[in-house]
Amino acid sequence: YPYFAQEAYKNPREATGRIVCANCHLAQKGIELELPQAVLPDSVFEAVVKLPYDHTKQQVSADGSKTGLNVGAVLVLPEGFKIAPEDRLSEELKEKTKDTYYQPYSDTQENIVLVGPVSGDDYSEIVFPVLAPDPAKDKNVHFLKYSVSAGGNRGRGQVYPTGEKSNNNEYTSSVSGLVTQISPIAPNEDEGIYGGYEISVQTTDGSIAVEKVPAGAELVVEPGSDVKVGSPLTTNPNIGGFGQHDGEIVLQDPRRIQWLLAFFASVIVTQILLVLKKKQVEKVQAAEMNF
Ligand code: HEM
Repeated sequence: YPYFAQEAYKNPREATGRIVCANCHLAQKGIELELPQAVLPDSVFEAVVKLPYDHTKQQVSADGSKTGLNVGAVLVLPEGFKIAPEDRLSEELKEKTKDTYYQPYSDTQENIVLVGPVSGDDYSEIVFPVLAPDPAKDKNVHFLKYSVSAGGNRGRGQVYPTGEKSNNNEYTSSVSGLVTQISPIAPNEDEGIYGGYEISVQTTDGSIAVEKVPAGAELVVEPGSDVKVGSPLTTNPNIGGFGQHDGEIVLQDPRRIQWLLAFFASVIVTQILLVLKKKQVEKVQAAEMNF
C-alpha cells in the first residue's frame, strides 16, 4: 500500500531513481505517464497514469479467496508543483477527478502525490490535476526542464513491511528430497491463518523438513514428488505488478515564446525587404542599360 511506503521511506524515489513500491511489489508490469511537453507558470494541466492489465483475471486475497485487483499510483513532481485546488479546475477536469482522493506524501512534500488503493476496474487510468508554480512568486522555482516520475501498481505486494512474504507469491522448497505427506493447516482466523498446507519433505539424509504454504496458491507437488532446493511447491498466483515511467516537463516562460514570435516576424519582414531591394536594383540596372 502507498501507506507502507510513507511509513518506511522519507522519499519514495531512491537515489538511483527507482520508486520504492518496487521493493515489495516484485513483479514488473508496465505503466504509462502522459504529460504535456511544456506548461506555463501558474497554469493547471493533467498528468495521466495508465495502468493496463487483464481485467478478466482475479488474484488471491490474504484469506486465500479470489478477488479483483486494486490499483494505486505515486506521482513525483518537481518541487513547487502540486495538486491544483478545486476552484482552479475546468469543468472537464472536475468531472474527471471528482471521485479521486489525492494525498500528499507528507506535510512537507506536496509535490509527491499518492492515490489508492482504489478499485482497478474503476481506475484503469488515474488523472492528476497539477498546478504549475510561478517563478515570479516562488524564488526557488526557475524556468527549466524538470523530470517527473510516476509509479503505478495493480495487485497485492509480495512482501510485508515486517519482511514476511505475502501469500501472493510462488512458494518454493528450501530442501531437496521426496514429498512424503501433505496435510491441510486448520484455519484460525483470529490469528490470521486462513488454511494452507504443511508439506513434509524427506531429505537425502533421512530427516523430515516441513514446508508451510499459506492459503491461496495451488500446489504443484503431491506425495511422491521429487523436489529440489528452490523448485516450486505452488503455482505463482500473482497477476499484478508495479511499473515506473519517467518523463520530463518544461516550465516555459511566456515571454520567451513572445520573443521567439517577434524574431520570426522580424525574419519575415527582413526577407520581404531584401526582395524589394533586389527588385529596385533590377529596375535601376534596367534603366541604366537604356542609356
Ligand atoms: C497492497 C500500491 C508500496 C506491500 C497494495 C495495493 C496497492 C498497493 C494498490 C492493493 C492491491 C490489491 O488489493 O489488489 C502500492 C504503491 C506503493 C506501495 C503505489 C508505493 C507508493 C508498498 C511497499 C510495501 C508494499 C513499500 C512493502 C513494505 C504491499 C503488500 C500488499 C500491498 C504486502 C498486500 C496487502 C494484503 O492484501 O495483505 N499496494 N504499494 N507496498 N502492498 Fe503496496
